[in-house]
Amino acid sequence: MAKIVVIGSGVAGLIAAAEASRHHEVILVTKANLAESNTHYAQGGIAAVVSTDDTIAEHVADTMFAGAGMCWEPAVEVLCAEGPGRINDLVNFGVEFDRTGADFAMGLEAAHSHARILHAGGDATGAVTSNALVETVRRTATEIREYTFVADIVVDNNHVTGVQVLDADGMQFIAADAVILASGGAGQLYRHTTNPAVTTGDGVAAAFRAGAELADVEFYQFHPTALAVPGSFLISEAVRGEGAVLIDANGERFMQKIHPLAELAPRDVVARGIQRTMIEQGGQPVLLDATALGSDFLAQRFPSITKACRSYGLNWGRDPIPVTPAAHYWMGGIATDTFGRTSIPGLYAVGEVACTGAHGANRLASNSLLESIVFAHRAVRALGEQWPEDAPSVRWANAAPLAELELLEPDHTTTAQVVDRVELQTLMWDNVGLARTKSELESALTQLHSWRPADPAHRLFPDWEDANLLLLARTVTEAALAREESRGGHYRLDFPDTDPAKARPITLVRKA
Ligand code: SIN
Repeated sequence: MAKIVVIGSGVAGLIAAAEASRHHEVILVTKANLAESNTHYAQGGIAAVVSTDDTIAEHVADTMFAGAGMCWEPAVEVLCAEGPGRINDLVNFGVEFDRTGADFAMGLEAAHSHARILHAGGDATGAVTSNALVETVRRTATEIREYTFVADIVVDNNHVTGVQVLDADGMQFIAADAVILASGGAGQLYRHTTNPAVTTGDGVAAAFRAGAELADVEFYQFHPTALAVPGSFLISEAVRGEGAVLIDANGERFMQKIHPLAELAPRDVVARGIQRTMIEQGGQPVLLDATALGSDFLAQRFPSITKACRSYGLNWGRDPIPVTPAAHYWMGGIATDTFGRTSIPGLYAVGEVACTGAHGANRLASNSLLESIVFAHRAVRALGEQWPEDAPSVRWANAAPLAELELLEPDHTTTAQVVDRVELQTLMWDNVGLARTKSELESALTQLHSWRPADPAHRLFPDWEDANLLLLARTVTEAALAREESRGGHYRLDFPDTDPAKARPITLVRKA
């Protein structure tokens, strides 16, 4: 029986903890309460092939197409092929998916050739899934440490030995035979995000500091439709999948002129189409018109969105609602192989914290919860196996990375100002957002280098988060500067074309 530390309590962490608890001692560490995670707020659902008129090959093809030439096919194949089995596991864990009679009810989302999105509680898929798994993990894990912040991952002799954590009693070391990082993404890098406050990229930053290799960090996905109100409440793509349309200030549909799939084009295309229309109409948000679906259907199929709209005084059954893009999902992260193995033996990364290569430059809608459950399960299966020497660089064995960046720790003795989160988020939104240029990226880097993190000896949770955001902002900006083309979630106004020769990852490591 090995001692496994699982970090994070979104679906990836919960599955890893539940599965690993069958054979190992498991300590689950999470910085808020067990139920708080990005997963909890997921609306649309989980994509998987569970009907006879759909095929794994078509799910693979859709994922590869959305990924804009950057998907790693072996990871995509694993993702799609193992999805149905993992859905079955969720049902056994007590997740009650919505059904039509005995069959799963299926939704359609952008760039899917079939309606294959399973959902639960209408638009409360994340909460329903998380609640069932939280109940399981509370019963099965050896120890659960809530409100505990993982400050650093400790590596000795090229193997993980544990984690340094901070809680109300101060800093402590938890020893481990293996660490499964499942601490999620970093939506808080941006001024506008659909992600909750906990998404500060702590796992990616800690792994990077420990020497792990990152990949694809320049690819950030902006969801096209967040409610244009403070807090950027997500308006699920499933709403457009049911037939809602986007209209400009004159009431005209504009996506048909931009892409043959119109409102259901890949996310990056729709997000940029909205951004361009907003610029043309002086910054006013565009409108999502769901009125044709009828109030009763909207209330029954999308109860959470209906409630959120009401809380802002909006009646979306009667009137179109204002929407705007917002940062949503990080395709990049800690580079892994298809078992979540990173470049540090004993350190696994699963879920949004990882870059498996399954999403390429632009994740297909509702493939994220799927990736979490599939790769968390695989990481647990691989526990105790011999660590392959080429994990995770097996991915670029046949195509060398486009760039291998080494990031030097800046000399903070010359920088006086402690980073301010809102200033950082605003800078990232303005200069490293949906459309980027060399000069804006360079000016962002200069600004980032002028900030320093708070003194490590006196950091509270928010100071650690700010330090992590500052580090990650630099990784995203450096990689975005190095990729001189446009592809998927990375769009350069000064290099608007996709260069087929550049369909290779950019990797990043800390310069020792
Ligand atoms: C949504 O409901 O639109 C989000 C689903 C996803 O990001 O995969």
